[in-house]
Amino acid sequence: MEPTVLVTGGAGFIGSNFILEWMEQEGTPVVNLDKLTYAGNPSNLENVAKDSRYRFVHGDICDCDLVRQTLAQQRPRALVHLAAETHVDRSIRGPEDFIRTNVEGTFCLLREALTYWQTLDASEQAAFRFLHVSTDEVYGSLPAEAAPCRENSAYAPASPYAASKAAADHLVRAYHWTYGLPVLITNCANNYGRFQFPEKLVPLMILHAHAGKSLPVYGDGLQVRDWMAVTDHCAALRLVLARGRAGETYHVGGSLQRRNLETVELICRLLDELCPQDPVIPHDQLITHVDDRPGHDRRYALDTTKIRTELKWRPKLRFEEGLRQTVNWYLQHPQWVQEVTSGSYRDWIALHYPQQVRDELR
Ligand code: NAD
Ligand code: TYD
Repeated sequence: MEPTVLVTGGAGFIGSNFILEWMEQEGTPVVNLDKLTYAGNPSNLENVAKDSRYRFVHGDICDCDLVRQTLAQQRPRALVHLAAETHVDRSIRGPEDFIRTNVEGTFCLLREALTYWQTLDASEQAAFRFLHVSTDEVYGSLPAEAAPCRENSAYAPASPYAASKAAADHLVRAYHWTYGLPVLITNCANNYGRFQFPEKLVPLMILHAHAGKSLPVYGDGLQVRDWMAVTDHCAALRLVLARGRAGETYHVGGSLQRRNLETVELICRLLDELCPQDPVIPHDQLITHVDDRPGHDRRYALDTTKIRTELKWRPKLRFEEGLRQTVNWYLQHPQWVQEVTSGSYRDWIALHYPQQVRDELR
């Protein structure tokens, strides 16, 4: 049996893209440990569900007994840790789950991974990797004129989500320096692509615009985000896993900064072209400024020199082309959209957005 990679959170947005691409490109076995929260969707992985190289373990990363058993049974050569609570707005309304999964869950994985790693022989220990997938949000908001963050920039997380990811990053590094666990950390910019839950900006705007509903832009919409295609992120994760130096952190980003309004306007232009029969044309008439997110970070920007020079990684997809593919994917998968936007998704929209946006859902 070829060595296995254990992925946590593999039924989520990045996780399912990662697993599908991994099985296509690397072809070695994958075990997916996922709790299937509202953001986890096993149907994303239906193409590999019956593949003998794929195994699914339904469970919580905070369940240390289950994590211990899974490591002992599957004997992975690496752990790719993607499981997390990920939506900033939800973290503002209820931070508890974020502290539990992102901090306590990461701690549980580290503790059990260390115990497992200590049972390996010397060559297996040297080859083992714990890859922790993190975010640019740990650096907090960057002034407009400030240089992009480097891997040694100071952490200044502003939202409960960012603070929980920052805490996890610190724990992962501590396990390397204190116990020698061979960890890797990636801090990545905002991703877009297929399978992203439509609470996040890009899919929410695509689906609302297509349906002729308001496009709720927080505040003035001049906040800057660095965007990248999820496929480019997954390629970077495979490369860091294969060639990254243990104990190191790598930034992954598109080096492509856009104001939110620019991104929403681009989505509208793509839909004007692709869906001229939609209820409201041009789609940008639907843009509606709503109350800003509390503590909303104005700008994220990552310096990606390290991964570009050390590992020769480059993002392949240009923003407009990647967004066009993403818009097309959402248009071609109404059944997927229907499944994920029924039930609790509606409750979230009703809780979070102002009356006008809520009414359109009735
Ligand atoms: P997502 O919200 O789409 O998916 C998260 C997955 O984790 C889901 O399948 C969910 O069921 C699972 N999960 C949640 N809690 C769990 C628990 N306690 N035990 C086991 N499984 C659990 O998230 P995503 O956007 O795919 O993000 C994946 C990772 O990448 C996260 O760690 C996130 O912080 C990081 N990241 C995301 C982005 C982005 O733009 N999406 C950018 C940078 C970093
Ligand atoms: P989001 O996709 O939630 O990612 P993050 O907060 O992790 O960067 O949001 C991206 C940007 O879009 C962020 O600045 C908040 C903004 N935004 C809106 O303006 N309206 C919305 O309805 C959402 C969900 C986000």
